[in-house]
Amino acid sequence: MTRHPEKIFVLTGAGVSAESGLGTFRDRGGIWARFDPMKLATPEAYAADPDTVLDFYDHRRRGVIAAEPNAAHVALAQAEARLAARGGRLFLCTQNVDDLHERAGSEAVTHMHGELLKARCCACGTVTPWRADLSRADACPACASEGRMRPDVVWFGEMPMRLDVIEAALAEADLFVAVGTSGAVYPAAGYVRQARALGIPTCEINLEPSDNADAFDAAQYGPASEALPRYLADLGL
Ligand code: OAD
Repeated sequence: MTRHPEKIFVLTGAGVSAESGLGTFRDRGGIWARFDPMKLATPEAYAADPDTVLDFYDHRRRGVIAAEPNAAHVALAQAEARLAARGGRLFLCTQNVDDLHERAGSEAVTHMHGELLKARCCACGTVTPWRADLSRADACPACASEGRMRPDVVWFGEMPMRLDVIEAALAEADLFVAVGTSGAVYPAAGYVRQARALGIPTCEINLEPSDNADAFDAAQYGPASEALPRYLADLGL
């Protein structure tokens, strides 16, 4: 492992926010164990039954607003600042739609699956900060169309966001770290193999071995709030 990496690419998933009380997706009792994603997280579901889809995201948005960052989020924000101070860069790519990385102090967060605290107008494409419940009565602040606002999150069957920026950052990293992600959803799940193909050392930090565990050079298992601060401290961050 690189002892003093200068360009760290960190990929986070739902496990990093689990200890903040936000549910993961595929663990026992997780969100997709209780709800059918095809009925709640696809463009087809939204077209067929927008109220049910909007209700589901209203509930999750309220949960995000009520949650607080945990020690894993804070450790990543500190590492970003410390690495920047010594001329390096921590590129934080998250699959999470919450804002807990930002609230912990991370300056630059790339949300590849979008952000729940933003709404997008299906008519004009404008993205607007949004903390309230969403309903079909809401009008777009930009174009005034009614009934066309949706959460600015990526649904199954849609393209994740900012893939060009993410792949460029991965290509120049000298360490790849995945935290709290099951390795079940692509393209994020493929980044570890892309990193290895580029000769970049890889480490997984997770509660238990992920679906992708055999693809990593190294692993540390435990709750993210403990394992991640320890790991970053070992890197001098
Ligand atoms: P998953 O729910 O698939 O995986 C969460 C991972 O976090 C699992 O491997 C858990 O073992 C681990 N975990 C749970 N608690 C943890 C803790 N306290 N500390 C560390 N690890 C812990 O969530 P993601 O991999 O993020 O996409 O899911 C990827 C995508 O699937 C999500 O972004 C979402 C979902 O469908 C969309 O909605 C587009």
